[in-house]
Amino acid sequence: MPGTSVIGTQWGDEGKGKILDLLAGEADVVLRFQGGANAGHTVNVGGEKFVFHLLPSGVLHQGAINLIGNGVVVDPEQLLEEIDAFGAGGIDFDGRLFLSGKAHLVMPYHKRLDEAQEKKRSRKIGTTGRGIGPCYAEKFSRTGLRFSDLAHFDRFRKRLDEILPLKNAILTKVFDAAPLDRDEILGQYEHYGKRLAGQVADTGAMTRRALKEDKRVFFEGAQGALLDVEHGTYPFVTSSNSCALGIAAGAGVPPHSVGKLIGVIKAYTTRVGEGPFPTEGDEDLGKRLRDAGDEYGATTGRPRRCGWLDGVAARYVVSLNGLNALALTKLDVLDGFETVKVCTTYRVNGVEQAGFPEDTPLLEQVEPLFDELPGWKCDISECRSFEDLPLEARDYVKYLENLVGIPVEIISVGAGRDQTIFR
Ligand code: GDP
Ligand code: IMO
Ligand code: MG
Repeated sequence: MPGTSVIGTQWGDEGKGKILDLLAGEADVVLRFQGGANAGHTVNVGGEKFVFHLLPSGVLHQGAINLIGNGVVVDPEQLLEEIDAFGAGGIDFDGRLFLSGKAHLVMPYHKRLDEAQEKKRSRKIGTTGRGIGPCYAEKFSRTGLRFSDLAHFDRFRKRLDEILPLKNAILTKVFDAAPLDRDEILGQYEHYGKRLAGQVADTGAMTRRALKEDKRVFFEGAQGALLDVEHGTYPFVTSSNSCALGIAAGAGVPPHSVGKLIGVIKAYTTRVGEGPFPTEGDEDLGKRLRDAGDEYGATTGRPRRCGWLDGVAARYVVSLNGLNALALTKLDVLDGFETVKVCTTYRVNGVEQAGFPEDTPLLEQVEPLFDELPGWKCDISECRSFEDLPLEARDYVKYLENLVGIPVEIISVGAGRDQTIFR
């Protein structure tokens, strides 16, 4: 039996954590397949807020096994912080959290380089500073360190002695940044290695076995399709395949195992960091959405840029990923608007086009054309069925379905678990 996959359809922060937590109630396995601690997935249970950066969003359900797949870049310091914090809060990880020996280690020089590179850029990307780009670059240049290296500490030490002098030369000579101390890194990583030794496992083999045994496997996306390094708004992207095309490779499963693809889409659009955002609102709209949606980064605390829903981008993402259904989140944030707008077309150099341009500078110049729909002037956060929603909100959902050609199967009307409508 194939799994079920959940990915972000915009520029991240669509509410994947909330949706994953809901679905994980019936999961045997939840696996993160790419990204790293740049992610911030929020789950709200009984008014209490939990934010996951590296841990899969299934950990609150004691029945699910949680896996960090080979495609994730793992900062062990951050992971242990999360394990300790959730452990102190009563979550039992015994026998239910494993990470791939193939997963690459985020090292202190990756984080320092991330910061130094960003400082030097004439046009910033606005990274999260978690070392993600430098770690993936190292992976692809075949000099990275993995958890399987950490398990053999002599090997790890030898490799670090080859790598660190080069990194320190780059940090000091190119970026005028401070070098890192070998012995300090060795001390830290020896400790991390010992603490995580029991967690390192062949997560790909575990997942394939679970699928073969008809267990319910959920693949948890991080970031969003428009941040994908190949298919997003390059270079204003993350450094991994954050769209559905990265699931099989990052999880270590055959492509057909990804199963049903659910795209999480916010009822409007947000973006943290730099880069094109055709439907970005003016100051008034941006502030209204940011205040109503509490749009501040779960990882960096930065205010998120906000604007109307972008139907052109959504159609592109549905088609690229072959999405089967949408989970529409934060519909309640649009409560009270006189009208709500959705971009249907871009005008490019005076010509209307329905497609999403490949060229990023061109995307920065497009003029979005909007449809304007009647708003609903009531609070929908207590609605628990589609029929409970006011007519205008139902019409907004149906309009979106027509625009992108797939059904909206889940509607979220608040951060809480119960504030959800299944159709
Ligand atoms: P993720 O990275 O995709 O998991 O999303 P984030 O956790 O970064 O951001 C989503 C934010 O919206 C979190 O604070 C959630 O608690 C919150 N949220 C999720 N769904 C809803 C919803 O339907 N309505 C409201 N008002 N908040 C929501
Ligand atoms: P979740 O999983 C929103 C953005 C950063 C920056 C760009 C590159 O919570 O949806 P990076 O540190 O990855 O090199 O930064 O990508 N970014 C995210 N934006 N949500 C995320 O994750 C993000 N992960 C990375 O803001 O623009
Ligand atoms: Mg987030």
